[in-house]
Amino acid sequence: MDSEDQGAPVVGFENVPENDAAEYLNNYKTHTPGITHDEMVRAYTEWATNYDKDLCPGRYNGPEIAARFMATHYPVEVRDKLNILDVAAGTGQVGRELHKVGFRKIDALEPSPGMLQVLKRRNIYGTLYQVALGLERINAIATDAYDALVIAGGMGEGHIPVRGLDEIVRIVKPGGTVFIVMREEYLSYVTEYVGKLEPYMENLLDRAIVENYSFGKSGVVFKYQVEK
Ligand SMILES: C[S@@+](CC[C@H](N)C(=O)[O-])C[C@H]1O[C@@H](n2cnc3c(N)ncnc32)[C@H](O)[C@@H]1O
Repeated sequence: MDSEDQGAPVVGFENVPENDAAEYLNNYKTHTPGITHDEMVRAYTEWATNYDKDLCPGRYNGPEIAARFMATHYPVEVRDKLNILDVAAGTGQVGRELHKVGFRKIDALEPSPGMLQVLKRRNIYGTLYQVALGLERINAIATDAYDALVIAGGMGEGHIPVRGLDEIVRIVKPGGTVFIVMREEYLSYVTEYVGKLEPYMENLLDRAIVENYSFGKSGVVFKYQVEK
């Protein structure tokens, strides 16, 4: 597929480095405007075995950025005691990065069976939930179950809807911390988020712009606290 095969221009393609064009288009199959939840899940399952090759460190730095922000927030001596939920865990790249800096109790939530299959092989995660966030209440996860929750790369067209944040507040303990790392430009053109996502985050502790999040584009990191 080239940048205009489907008749419409590929959103965000204009400033992608030439070397990353093919991988950007692979990624775009999971983010095409108007993609439904089921289509998105299927697209990830089809991509799963090539995902880590296409979205490798350098081209996609979300997992490393998430782990860096979490490591800055939590002193080294508490990291192995925290119950963490990695939402939109994909193939487990965030778990890999969190493990490197001393986090140990990490569960994964991920709707795509293909992505989960790759994740399982890493042997880093505890409980795995094959489910999506933001569609309905996740009865398998107790209220106030987690000390911290992280999402890297899980926000985007057809991905986690704004109402997913309600479920986050339910499953994270009062006073617990939520880290969301996403492509900055999605805030301006993903209809679900424009003018809605940021106002929804109460008790925002930090909002940081990071360079070279993915495909040379900047990212934004939100850190917020669930009300005590
Ligand atoms: C770009 S990948 C990011 C995977 C991993 N966090 C990483 O940084 O490599 C996005 C992931 O979000 C998952 N996802 C999409 N919508 C979701 C939802 N509503 N709830 C949970 N996960 C979702 C997809 O299945 C996919 O695995």
